[in-house]
Amino acid sequence: MPPARVAVLVSGGGTNLQALLDAAADPWFPADIVKVVSNIPGVFALERAARAGVPSVVIEHKGKPREAFEQELLAALGEVDIVCLAGFMRVLTPTFLGAFPHRVMNIHPALLPAFPGTHGARQALEYGATQAGATCHLVDAGVDTGPILAQGSVPVLAGDTEATLAARILTVEHRLYPMCLRWMAEGRVRVEGRRAQVELHQGEARWILGTGGSPP
Ligand code: GAR
Repeated sequence: MPPARVAVLVSGGGTNLQALLDAAADPWFPADIVKVVSNIPGVFALERAARAGVPSVVIEHKGKPREAFEQELLAALGEVDIVCLAGFMRVLTPTFLGAFPHRVMNIHPALLPAFPGTHGARQALEYGATQAGATCHLVDAGVDTGPILAQGSVPVLAGDTEATLAARILTVEHRLYPMCLRWMAEGRVRVEGRRAQVELHQGEARWILGTGGSPP
């Protein structure tokens, strides 16, 4: 089976993009990152794409109706098999999602369905949660409501700030996303209603326990 062709949509620093690029650098990885699209000019994710030799394009959402923005996005993506949202801070409409049914993935910095939307780490601290984490999921028309592929948890430690907790959560994001992209690229994910079923291989699990130590 040829590797799946993957586009990554970004809006910021792109550490999750980097995790996907690093995984895809392995010739045995079942997916190739063929395009990076940012809706914000000048973000470091674009530099990461350039360093990896992956073509990138900026499509700004600012000052455009949502439909026009999405039509430009669709035209830029062309024929890709999977779209990965990696810190992409725009909600996509059913028109866009319909072009890639059950093939748009997202990484979110919270243990969904808790704390959807923005600032997952901040919300976990505000609620006094003792566990935080990340969720890799398929995207549906809601905000962070699509079928869950895998989750990773980390403890909330005394003295955590939003920054220290977000950094700890990122370490599990970087492990989850390539793992889930592999499952998708290998055609091992099936959606049943609001749940995703994954055909797991020996030794695989749909959860990760992160460490409480400082992120590397
Ligand atoms: C990540 O923590 C990602 O989970 C989050 O933005 C950050 C992007 O970091 N995404 C969301 O909050 C989406 N709702 P990165 O640019 O370094 O990958």
